[in-house]
Amino acid sequence: MHPVESYVTTPSARPPAPADVVARGLPPGHIPGQGLTALAPMQDVTHLPFMRVMAHYGAPDYFFTEYFRVHEVSCLEPHILRSITDHGTGRPVFAQLIGEHIPSMVRTAKALSAYPVAGIDLNMGCPAPKIYKKNVGGGLLRDPDKVDALLGALRDAVPGRFTVKMRVGFDNTEPFERILALVNKHGIDLLTVHGRTVAEMYRPGVRYDLIAQAVRTVRCPVLANGDIHSPAKAVEVLALTGAAGVMIGRHAIRNPWIFRQTREALAGRPITPVTLAETRAYIDRLYGETESPTASRTAHVHKLKKYLNFVGQSVDPTGAFLYEMRRAMTHAELFAICDRHLLADPDRHASIEPYPGIFARPNAEAPMDGCSLETIPG
Ligand SMILES: Cc1cc2nc3c(=O)[nH]c(=O)nc-3n(C[C@H](O)[C@H](O)[C@H](O)COP(=O)(O)O)c2cc1C
Repeated sequence: MHPVESYVTTPSARPPAPADVVARGLPPGHIPGQGLTALAPMQDVTHLPFMRVMAHYGAPDYFFTEYFRVHEVSCLEPHILRSITDHGTGRPVFAQLIGEHIPSMVRTAKALSAYPVAGIDLNMGCPAPKIYKKNVGGGLLRDPDKVDALLGALRDAVPGRFTVKMRVGFDNTEPFERILALVNKHGIDLLTVHGRTVAEMYRPGVRYDLIAQAVRTVRCPVLANGDIHSPAKAVEVLALTGAAGVMIGRHAIRNPWIFRQTREALAGRPITPVTLAETRAYIDRLYGETESPTASRTAHVHKLKKYLNFVGQSVDPTGAFLYEMRRAMTHAELFAICDRHLLADPDRHASIEPYPGIFARPNAEAPMDGCSLETIPG
């Protein structure tokens, strides 16, 4: 049996309490005074069904939608809107935009502000070449003057909270300080920093020191993002950076209990482990919630396998589950493999950390055409 990671913070190891985010104009988290948790926006992932699945296992403090694409003729995508209007999780949802055409961004931000959003979030981080080549997402970081104009226009247009999610630079971190100064200039309400440049995509080595620099520089609360793979890592990153909270993406797909477990770790309580049987039930829930009447069963099995790429990092240290799962073609084959690997010893604990050397595919060097499960490694 794999030993369960039991992470208990001692009082002296606890990070300092974050500045009171409520006093700074943000919605309260689950536990007053505790570091915040947020589910990272993920295209094709953080839709309504996935938010509901996350809420079932312990919602994050904040949700972010996948991005609304904005251009001269764009309209609000109905399925993303539903993740704002119908999620029923009881938690605040920030609506993310990607684009660079200022009148269209202003029009869209105003339209979205009429919905029950916690804020409007600007994407300044997407590293997919198809995206950044249009000077949107991470591409904006190459042009601080454009960032200045866009932040100013959106700040004027958004009556409520206006937030930014950024990487630390495009191919170097030289403009980082200038962009942080623009965050202050335009009175941004919440800043998320993913501690990698666009060029680094998802390679190992997140710059938590630069996230700490952002915390010291900007006047708004900061969420730290990048490779936060466990409650212990969340505690460590909060202590290292002084951030108001953590944003978690891929490791919430792998372990939807991570937000609840992080709250336990931040409170200095032992972490409640998860069994393989519970992980097997999560797979059923994910399959059921994400089923669509318009997609074929084969397409749905294919989609589930993208999620299982992450889940499999917690199942066994040899990667045997991932190896077999990737080869399954049918619903029956896939679920038989899940049963074999997850129900043979159902009380065994799933690993809280991903097993070392077990990676989601494609690997970090694979070319990326967009931000989606098809292209982003774990
Ligand atoms: C499948 C996938 C889709 C993503 N889509 C978005 C997106 O729509 N907007 C965004 O700002 N970041 C997006 N990202 C980046 C994540 O929000 C996050 O910054 C990144 O995955 C690093 O965090 P993690 O190590 O916790 O996964 C996406 C990431 C993944 C894996």
